Amino acid sequence: MSSKQPHRSPGPGDLAIETTGLVKTFGENRAVDGVDLAVPAGTVYGVLGPNGAGKTTTVKMLATLLRPDGGEAHVFGHDVVREADAVRGRVSLTGQYASVDEDLTGTENLVLLARLTGHGKKAAYARAEQLLDAFGLGDAASRQVKNYSGGMRRRIDIAASILNTPDLLFLDEPTTGLDPRSRNQVWDIVRAVVGHGTTVLLTTQYLDEADQLASRIAVIDKGKVIAEGTKGELKASVGAGSVHVRLRHAEQRAQAQEVLRLALDVPIQLEPDPVALTARVGEGSSNGRGAAEQASLALAELARTGITVDNFSLGQPSLDEVFLALTGHPSEPQDPGPQTGQDRQDRQDRQDRQDRQDRQEAEATR
Ligand SMILES: Nc1ncnc2c1ncn2[C@@H]1O[C@H](COP(=O)(O)OP(=O)(O)OP(=O)(O)O)[C@@H](O)[C@H]1O
Ligand SMILES: [Mg+2]
Repeated sequence: MSSKQPHRSPGPGDLAIETTGLVKTFGENRAVDGVDLAVPAGTVYGVLGPNGAGKTTTVKMLATLLRPDGGEAHVFGHDVVREADAVRGRVSLTGQYASVDEDLTGTENLVLLARLTGHGKKAAYARAEQLLDAFGLGDAASRQVKNYSGGMRRRIDIAASILNTPDLLFLDEPTTGLDPRSRNQVWDIVRAVVGHGTTVLLTTQYLDEADQLASRIAVIDKGKVIAEGTKGELKASVGAGSVHVRLRHAEQRAQAQEVLRLALDVPIQLEPDPVALTARVGEGSSNGRGAAEQASLALAELARTGITVDNFSLGQPSLDEVFLALTGHPSEPQDPGPQTGQDRQDRQDRQDRQDRQDRQEAEATR
């Protein structure tokens, strides 16, 4: 949505979002419990947290769809409560303002939304075609959206939300439930959007997604920011990589733990699986070696001592490992996580219904 009021374009050093002590309660539940955020304009800012952490609730307050119960939030300097209209003129939220109609085709949806936001007929068709092509939906342009796959649906949602390039785009878990190829496509889109100067607030449950896209990351848990910083800072505190080892013989695990501890000089974690061990390795840690080099040394050391390894991998820490490193306990989702594609779809549908309701309530309070 574009503002009718003239406004200065955000420049480097400006804050797109600034919150202090932001609070939202639902009954006894402090869903957002004193959140401070400072999001530089022109960047992707990642909000990382498990189910029920308060990500969506935070986004909804910033997008003026929910009223905060405490604290303050400013979007490009505008108070989200007192200057909600000015905020709405600058922001867009995936799957929300851009309510895609399932019975219309891709082209029809985008043209309709473009016409509604003031594009002439020719310009609307041109913009629709440009976006459909850019999002890899050219071939599906004349198909009804209800026949799109999950990944295509997510892409048309994002396309709809950037018809009029917003200054700030909220992407609430844009890739949850998508296959790796679709995730990569969405990531490319996010990079392109930011390349055009839009600030993106991205919520995610995946550290690798935040790592791929975001310049700064806030980790939230139970409504509170438990860590904040650049990707490098976050990795320095949680470890750059995670070495996962599965042994052939469970009885060699204690020995393997000792060998790995000596080789890597970090605590070695025993997994519930009786043949599995995990170690967090740092970027250029005490011995000055990178994570991959440390991992291969550890593997060589296991082989040298006659320990049979069935499977070995070096990956980024999972969200659980991030939480373990930051809080000393694994993340405990407040809501059960999605298990199947159907569960995810049901959750998405519920979220969509709730979003429509919030939107109507927000409209009613204007
Ligand atoms: N409209 C509502 N009414 C009551 N409780 C709510 C409402 N919306 C959210 N909550 C509760 O607030 C907390 C935070 O929810 P929120 O949806 O913000 O989490 P989230 O981080 O977005 O989680 P997810 O990853 O599952 O989307 C949860 O405990 C949730 O049950
Ligand atoms: Mg959410």
